[in-house]
Amino acid sequence: MLKVAPSILSADFVNLERDIRALSVADADYVHVDVMDGLFVPNITIGIPVVAAIRKITDLPLDVHLMIDRPLRYVDDFCKAGSDILTVHVEADNEENTIAALKRIRENGVKAAISVKPKTPPEAVLPYLPYCDLILVMTVEPGFGGQSFMQDMMPKLKQIRSYIDAQNPTCELEVDGGINEKTAKICAENGANVFVAGSAYFKAEDPSAFVRALKA
Ligand code: DX5
Ligand code: ZN
Repeated sequence: MLKVAPSILSADFVNLERDIRALSVADADYVHVDVMDGLFVPNITIGIPVVAAIRKITDLPLDVHLMIDRPLRYVDDFCKAGSDILTVHVEADNEENTIAALKRIRENGVKAAISVKPKTPPEAVLPYLPYCDLILVMTVEPGFGGQSFMQDMMPKLKQIRSYIDAQNPTCELEVDGGINEKTAKICAENGANVFVAGSAYFKAEDPSAFVRALKA
């Protein structure tokens, strides 16, 4: 089943409640929340209190993407704030701490996920696959919305799909960065089933039609 996760990085932060409530009306599947710390990526966005506030105004699952250094320090807080899926980057800490973070996330009753930046090879996901409910393949360098889709990530996406099918078939495969009607199709052909879309969703004249087109 194909799913759409609009990224609220491109929402109107003055009207965040309005924009988040509209996601349910548009039949989105997840609310994608981008957390950046100014260290792991060169940008700072939102943190734990904002996730907790969003939790109060939507029943949609919160898909929280941590672009932060050494996330083990904060995973309990983000789980308690109401995350349903919590993603850490494999580049953000060593293997031992990343596995500890994934286990801790699951102990909180939250789905655990890892993400890989564009330069990280597909086999980097292998140590974490048994501990993951979702893998997020970045199709731009993380840090900012509105960048161009990197089609050269498709062989990696396909390779990770084959690892998932062989080793953890219920794991979801998400793509993030430059996703629109056209690039989502390409990602689906290469094995993705969850599409994050920030600028394309929030620029769409008819968000419901945009979501339908991505799921078609
Ligand atoms: C980028 C974030 C994305 C971002 C995507 O680091 O992880 O979720 O919001 O934005 P678009 O869809 O505009 O590329
Ligand atoms: Zn993201």
